Amino acid sequence: MKPTLHLFSLASIFFTLQVPALKIATSLQWIEHTPQPYAIKNFYKGSDTASLMSGGVANIVTDKTIDLAANAETQGLKQYSSHRNLRLIYVIVEVGYRIVANKASGINKLADLKGKKVGTMPGTSAAYFVNKLLGSAGLAPADYSVVSGSVCMKTPCGSGTLPQMLTGKQVDAFGIWEPAVELGAKALGSNAVIFQNASIYREVYSLYSTEEKLKDATTRKNIVAFVKALDQTLDVFTKNPSTVYATVASAVGMDEAVVEAVWPDHKWSGDLPADLLDFLVEEDQYLAKQDGRAVVSRAELANFIDPSILDEVKKSSTVR
Ligand SMILES: *[C@@H]1O[C@H](CO)[C@@H](O)[C@H](O)[C@H]1NC(C)=O
Repeated sequence: MKPTLHLFSLASIFFTLQVPALKIATSLQWIEHTPQPYAIKNFYKGSDTASLMSGGVANIVTDKTIDLAANAETQGLKQYSSHRNLRLIYVIVEVGYRIVANKASGINKLADLKGKKVGTMPGTSAAYFVNKLLGSAGLAPADYSVVSGSVCMKTPCGSGTLPQMLTGKQVDAFGIWEPAVELGAKALGSNAVIFQNASIYREVYSLYSTEEKLKDATTRKNIVAFVKALDQTLDVFTKNPSTVYATVASAVGMDEAVVEAVWPDHKWSGDLPADLLDFLVEEDQYLAKQDGRAVVSRAELANFIDPSILDEVKKSSTVR
């Protein structure tokens, strides 16, 4: 055999032994996703690189090359109803969503939203939040009209965005994730009134994998390493937020001052909250009705939550 052939086969053996990079599907435009690039850049020590692709939990259930996905619990539940191999393994951040309303529309308390136009984004965690928070004030969906709008990350907010619809009086109030609410409140100035109650609803922005990925020894090791890196990141996000405002702002196209203003609405959990199962059972009932499907049983939803990665991380972690 010629030496060139030897070299060629050695190279191909080496190539096939390489572990594929950890592939993570996530929406790259929200504040909630920013611990992921920060973790990869500063802390991740897997057997190979980790890379983010634009997407989410809808991708991991169809594309077998994806190892992890991040999304609000709402999208997780929607996918779990038809993909029972999906697993929620870690909560990155819990966000107390807010509603901003216009006092000039005669709104001073939540119950004043009766008969009003309330902006949100249907089919998302924001729509569920509006339903729950208004429900807590005794308002049924028939008591107000929902108007669909889009978000804005930075002023000036264009036509069709919720902050612009609020100042343009196309809606009397709106509720969604940040920073749209902050920008809407700023735009209204002294006419703004804010409603929030995280014990009624907070977004549970989570990390997901699949049963198959968690069973693969190499992938599992890398997932543990990634969650460990996220833990270290959330420690920085919680204890030294001023060191990350600029990074977060540039990652999602926000002004740094606005990142700082909405930071207190973000609880960088790095955990699986004790009430998670109850919370998911209740939300699934709402989503099942919305999507015209059967509810997922409590036992099946218990299966959706897999605490085993977090347990491994906790055992080996020095951070928390
Ligand atoms: C938030 O909701 C909880 C549960 O319904 C309630 O007990 C509490 O008083 C509310 N907090 C505020 C500030 O409205």
